[in-house]
Amino acid sequence: MSSDEFPTERTAVVTCGLPYANGDLHIGHLRGYIGADAFSRALKTLGQRTAYVCGSDMHGTPVAVNAEKEGVDPEEFALRWHEQYSETFPKFSVEFDNYGHTHDETNTELTREIVTTLDEEGYVYEKEIKVAYDPDADQYLPDRYVEGTCPYCGSKARGDECDEGCQRHLEPGEVENPTSSITGNTAEYRERAHKFFRVSEFTDYLTEFLDGLEGTPNARNQPRQWIEDGLQDWCITRDMDWGIDYPGEGADGLVLYVWVDAPIEYIASTKQYTERVGSDAYDWEDVWKDGGDIVHVIGRDIIQHHTVFWPAMLEAAGYTAPRAVAATGFITIDGKGLSTSRNRAIWAREYLEEGFHPDLLRYYLTTTGGLQQDVDFTWEAFQEKVNGELVGTVGNFCYRSLLFAQRNYEGTPETDVSDEVEARIEGAIGEVREAVNDYSLRGIGQATTRLAQFGNEYIQRNEPWKLTDYDPEQAAQVIRDCVQLAKAIAVLFEPIAPGKAQALWEQLGEDSAVGDTGLEAALEQPPRHFDAPSELFEKLEDDRVEELTEQLEAKIDAASDDGDDDAADDAPTDADDEEAGGDADLEPLLEERISFDDFQDLDIRVGRIESAEGIEGADALARLEVDIGLETRQVVAGIKQLHDLENLPGEKCILLANMEPATLFGVESNGMILAAGEEADLLTTHGDADLGEKVR
Ligand code: MF3
Ligand code: ZN
Repeated sequence: MSSDEFPTERTAVVTCGLPYANGDLHIGHLRGYIGADAFSRALKTLGQRTAYVCGSDMHGTPVAVNAEKEGVDPEEFALRWHEQYSETFPKFSVEFDNYGHTHDETNTELTREIVTTLDEEGYVYEKEIKVAYDPDADQYLPDRYVEGTCPYCGSKARGDECDEGCQRHLEPGEVENPTSSITGNTAEYRERAHKFFRVSEFTDYLTEFLDGLEGTPNARNQPRQWIEDGLQDWCITRDMDWGIDYPGEGADGLVLYVWVDAPIEYIASTKQYTERVGSDAYDWEDVWKDGGDIVHVIGRDIIQHHTVFWPAMLEAAGYTAPRAVAATGFITIDGKGLSTSRNRAIWAREYLEEGFHPDLLRYYLTTTGGLQQDVDFTWEAFQEKVNGELVGTVGNFCYRSLLFAQRNYEGTPETDVSDEVEARIEGAIGEVREAVNDYSLRGIGQATTRLAQFGNEYIQRNEPWKLTDYDPEQAAQVIRDCVQLAKAIAVLFEPIAPGKAQALWEQLGEDSAVGDTGLEAALEQPPRHFDAPSELFEKLEDDRVEELTEQLEAKIDAASDDGDDDAADDAPTDADDEEAGGDADLEPLLEERISFDDFQDLDIRVGRIESAEGIEGADALARLEVDIGLETRQVVAGIKQLHDLENLPGEKCILLANMEPATLFGVESNGMILAAGEEADLLTTHGDADLGEKVR
C-alpha cells in the first residue's frame, strides 16, 4: 500500500463497480460512474498517469433471472444491455479508457488463469454443502433464485445478499426459510459438492490491508467488523449453465460464482486498454503486478466483496492490492429509497430526453453530499443547485468577465495577473489537490464554485465599469485578473463538468482540449484575443420544475397502482428500500423557541478524546473515554464506521455532560459527543479553550 500523495510516480487505475447487464441505467448507477469519472479526470489533471476502466457484468443470477423473464438467452440478453450501456455512458461524459465485459475472451481467460493459480497454490478445496433446490422446477436455486430471511439481521434477503438489511454477503445454505423465486415453493436443501476459496486464511493479511486502505472510512470499518466476527471460506461455484466454467477437475456442471469473474474484469479491462494503446503509453502490468495505485469506486452495498474477497484473491494470485476503496451512499428520490420496481427513479434516458446538459447532473451528484452520504434527488433541489451555483455563481462570473473583457479589450488585457489573484488561484489548485487525496468529489467541485464566488466579489469590490474612465490601468488590471480566474475555472472544473469547461476554454480563445491540460494551466497566460462569450448555463424555470415534479409523482403512482413490484432490482447502487435512504436535504428549522434558561440546563463542556474502540457486536457504536477536565467520562457514540477510531485519541471534542446515562450493548454511556450531519463531523473548538470549559 502506498501512502504517498497523488500524483505519484506509479501508474494508477480508477474503476467503478461493473453494472449488471440486465436493465436500464438510472441515476443510482450514474452517481458511481460519474463520480469515478470525475475522480479519474481529476487525477489526470494532477498529472497522474492513470486509466479509467470498467465493463458490463454479464453473468450470475441477476442477468439469468431477468433474461428468463423475457424468455431470451442470457448471452443475447446481456450483450444487448452491454451495447446500450456503452452508448449511454458517453452521453454523461463518462469516458472510459476501456469498457469491456466479463464474458469476453480477455476476462474469461484471465479468470481461468487466476482461479487455476488459486487452486494450484492450495487455496481451493471441495466440500459437500446443502444447496437450495426447487423440486417442481427441477433445478438448483443459487443466489437470486432463492429468497428468505437473513440469519444475521432478520431482514428479507436474497440467496447471496442481505440487500434490504445489513448488506452482508450470504453463503449458499445460509438464508433461512428459503423459497424459490421461480415457483414460490418452499425450497428443499440438497447435498452437493462445491469449491471453496480459503478466505479465512487471509484474516491477518486483510487486517493489515485494511489498516493501510485509503478511500472512505466505511470501506475500512465495516469489514473490520466482519473480520472480528470471524471470516468464513467463500463458495466460488454455482449450479448454473450461464457463467464461466470452473477450470479445474471435478466440477462438472458448475460455473464460477459471478463475484469471482466480475472483479477480474477490472484487470482484464485494463489489459485491453494496454493492448489498444501499447505498453509504452500505459502498462497494465505496472498496475496490477508491480504495485500501481488501484482505486475502486463502488456502492456501499458491495464493500465486502471489495475489501475481503477481492483483496484475498489478489493476494493469493500474486496481484497488487487496491490502494483505495471509495464507497458511495445510495440515491434517494424525494427522501425515499430509489426503487426500480416502483419506478421511483430518474432513468438515464429520461434525463437525456429532457434535454438537460450532463454537467448539471454531474455537478449535482458529486457536490450534493459527501461520498459516503446518501444523496437525495428532487427536481427542486436540482433547480436550486443549477440556478444558484451554476447559473448564479460560476456562469454569471465567467459571462460578465469575458463580456467585459471582449467589449473593452477584445480579449485579455495586456498586463500581468495581480499577486492577490494569483495567490487565490494557487489556493484553489491546492484545494483540488487536497480534495483528490481525500477522495472528496464535493471538495473538487466546491473549489471551483468558491473561486467563482471570489471572482464575483472581486468584480463587485473593484467596480471596473467605474474605473474604465478615470483609472483605465486599474480597470485593465481587474479584468485581466478576471480572465485569469475564468481560465482557472475552466481547468479546475473540467473533472466535474467537462463539457462546460471545454466550452469556457474555447470562449477564452483556447483551441486545445482542456482535459489534456494540467493544473498549472490555471495560471498560464490566456490568449490575447477572443470573441464575445455566451452564457454557460441556463436558468431552470419554476414552471418546468413543477412539471417535472408532477411527472415524477405521476409515474410513481402509476407503478404502485399496477401493483407491479416484482421486477428484480438490478443496480449496484440500488437500495430498492424505502427505509434505507437518509435525507440529504437540510431538516427544516424548528418553529418552537426555547428560553435562555432552557439552554442553561444543557451542561456542554470542552473535552478531549483519550481512547476510542469499537463495541463488540454493535456495527455502529464506539466506546470513548473523554477527558472533560474535572473527570474522565465513558461515552458511547455512533461513529464507529464514520471515523477511523485510531485517529481520534487526542482530538478535542464537545460533550453534553448532563445527558442522562444509558446502557448500550452493555456499555454505560455518560454523556453525548456532539457532531453534525450524516457523517458525524465532530464539533470542536478552534482556540485554546481548556478542557472542562463550559460552552455558552
Ligand atoms: N455487478 C455488481 C453489482 O451491481 C458489481 C460488480 S463489481 C465487481 O453489484 F467488482 F465485481 F466488478
Ligand atoms: Zn442481514
